[in-house]
Amino acid sequence: MKLLVINGPNLNMLGIREKHLYGADTYETLVRLIEETAARLQVEVEIFQSNHEGVLVDKIQQAYGKIDGIVINPAAYTHTSVAILDALKAVSIPACEVHITDVTKREAFRQVSYAGMACEAHFIGLGLQGYVQAMEYLARNLRS
Ligand code: DQA
Repeated sequence: MKLLVINGPNLNMLGIREKHLYGADTYETLVRLIEETAARLQVEVEIFQSNHEGVLVDKIQQAYGKIDGIVINPAAYTHTSVAILDALKAVSIPACEVHITDVTKREAFRQVSYAGMACEAHFIGLGLQGYVQAMEYLARNLRS
């Protein structure tokens, strides 16, 4: 089983950006956590981050036929990108949405999630543990 974990813009700045919201853990810490989780769940994982919408769309398209499950935090593109929604629908790979913060309690412009409309589960406001829970969800559901 192979999972793809995708992070959108500015998530490479974890540990630097708005620590009061996103915490002090760095992107490298997140990468290690995802790798450790994959090892524990005995799944393969590819970890990808980009600040560019089209690059994220390309990555989702390239997953077709190669990846069994996607964990995605599209970051700001969550709230704007029909292209990422369409890419997730196009490949039809089981996907989970993750947000470190509880976007439901933040600004009005964060209340819509386009990518989330193509996701079967949502892990919101759980910090980095959201990625762990999303991977556990996919590993469990893809095996059953
Ligand atoms: C985020 C929430 C988004 O609204 C924001 O633009 C991000 C990060 C989160 O993980 O909480 O960059 O996706």
